[in-house]
Amino acid sequence: MSETESLDSEQPSADLSRRRLLLGTTSVVGAVGVAAAAWPFLASLRPSARARIIGAPVEVFIGNLEPGQLARVQWRGQTIGIMRRTERMLQQLPELNPRLRDPESAVADQQPDYARNLHRSIRPEILVLNVHCTHLGCVPQVIPEIGAQPFDSDWRGGFFCPCHRSTFDLAGRVYSGVPAVRNLLVPPHSFVGDDHVIIGVDPEGAS
Ligand code: FES
Repeated sequence: MSETESLDSEQPSADLSRRRLLLGTTSVVGAVGVAAAAWPFLASLRPSARARIIGAPVEVFIGNLEPGQLARVQWRGQTIGIMRRTERMLQQLPELNPRLRDPESAVADQQPDYARNLHRSIRPEILVLNVHCTHLGCVPQVIPEIGAQPFDSDWRGGFFCPCHRSTFDLAGRVYSGVPAVRNLLVPPHSFVGDDHVIIGVDPEGAS
C-alpha cells in the first residue's frame, strides 16, 4: 500500500550568498511532499519523520528558487542541495576543466547516466547534488561568488569543505590536489512540470 503525504512543515534552507551563509540566515524555499510506502508503526510519526526513516522520494517545490540560490532538503539521511544556476555560472563550467580532477565525470557511479554531461544535471540550470563531501562526509559550504578566497586566490564559485579544504565547482566536480578524489554525487531525480523536483525517482524511461 502506498500513500501520498504533504510535508508543508518541512522547509529547506537556502543560501543566497556567502555572507548570508556565514550569518546562518535561511529562507523558505517551498513545500515538500513525499510518496511513501505504508508501515504500521510509522503511522504514529509525523510525516517528515516517516519520510526520513523510509527513505521515500521527496518532492520539492522550486518555483520560488532564485537564480544563484541553493535549497537544502534531507533524503535518506543525506543533505541534498538544489541550486538554480545562473547563465554566468553555466558559462564558466568548461573554463574550469583544466583545474579539475575528473571534469568529464568519468569515474563510475558519481551520477546517473542522464546527468553525465557538462552540467551534471537534467536541466542545465537546475543542479541537484548530494552535498556531503566525498572525502569523509562533511557538508561543504556553498560560496557561489567569484573572487579570491583564503583557500583559492582564483575562486570561481563552488563548494568548499572546511574539514580538510576540498573544493568543488558549481557542478560538484572536484578540484585537483585536494583530499577528495571524487565528484559530489548526483542523486536520482526527475521533474514534475516546471516547478517540482522529485529526489529519489529517475525520469520515466531512465534506469
Ligand atoms: S571531509 Fe571534506 S575535505 Fe575531508
